[in-house]
Amino acid sequence: SSLKDYNTFGIDVNAKQLISVSSMRELKQVLRNNYSNELFILGGGSNMLLTRDINATVLHINLKGKELLSSSSDSALVRINAGENWHETVQWTLEHNLGGLENLSLIPGNTGTAPIQNIGAYGVELKDTFVSCDVIDVQTLETRSFSKEECDFGYRSSIFKTSAKGKYIITSVTFQLTRKDHNLHTEYGSIKEALLEMGIKEPGLKDVSAAVIKIRSQKLPDPKVLGNSGSFFKNPVLPVGQLIKLQDKYPDIPFYSISKEEVKVPAGWLIEQAGFKGYREGDAGVHKNQALVLVNYGEASGNEILHLAHKIQDKILKDYGIDLQPEVNIY
Ligand code: EPU
Repeated sequence: SSLKDYNTFGIDVNAKQLISVSSMRELKQVLRNNYSNELFILGGGSNMLLTRDINATVLHINLKGKELLSSSSDSALVRINAGENWHETVQWTLEHNLGGLENLSLIPGNTGTAPIQNIGAYGVELKDTFVSCDVIDVQTLETRSFSKEECDFGYRSSIFKTSAKGKYIITSVTFQLTRKDHNLHTEYGSIKEALLEMGIKEPGLKDVSAAVIKIRSQKLPDPKVLGNSGSFFKNPVLPVGQLIKLQDKYPDIPFYSISKEEVKVPAGWLIEQAGFKGYREGDAGVHKNQALVLVNYGEASGNEILHLAHKIQDKILKDYGIDLQPEVNIY
């Protein structure tokens, strides 16, 4: 069966078999039956580039349910099942006047896959409100919980992308959110501007979410309209010494310092400077408003997108001596 509707890049590859599970009972049953077979776990399909058919059973995690676990006067614990769409989860928390996820509005994908790459935007990362996640071991069917510490979160990374890769399926995620005295993050430049344009002086949770939605819809293509996986590459982290050398040749290079020794450079800037913004090869392209986003104009294959990605990586290595690393998972 075709996976075109199951990945936000809209790549048309086939799976040997596609099974969607909507309860823990079904999930365990499928894992038991496929004990010796290869399984391919699919969440929202928003962070992957498929370059070939999948000769395995693709398991679509469709566990639904959002639950308020407990609340005190100033905070609340919520548990969200893995198959819930991320943006709908964020909107649900805002409907309940719960704070913490508003900056992560409109990120594509499902709640259960969000911890894998510690999704982040506009000064906030998933790990800031994450408490724990429940998982099932795909081999032993044992269920357990991972605390925040155990997840070993980093920039677009967690244990589920490194040492525990492929070992577990995340079945639900628990967050701690604020009920009052919300800690709004509006320091990210474009949020302030967006709020100003909207005429809002004292923003609340929903205003910050609206500002993020406004910025994202201007810059980032809607996967339903134009296939994409958000940022294709990570923003590279460089030693300060390398930045200083680059500044000789590129005095305008933007950077954010992340420690005394290291800086992060926006890959979007590098790619734009290298002349790729809006560039197109067949149906594979670089988005016209955000050079960090690769797009599928319709019929691009995964390999055509990958070829374009390699071309960009080669040029950035040649021009800047920087080795861009993909943020999306490539299969
Ligand atoms: N820039 C350019 N040209 C471009 C794009 C960016 O010059 O075409 C420069 C600008 O100087 C801009 C800076 O890059 O000020 C940063 O751009 P932007 O605010 O759009 O953020 P980003 O660094 O490109 C990161 C995340 C996004 C997240 C935004 C906002 C990564 C890999 N990407 O992008 O996350 O939404 O910040 O917080 O860290 C994603 O992971 O899929 C994603 C979209």
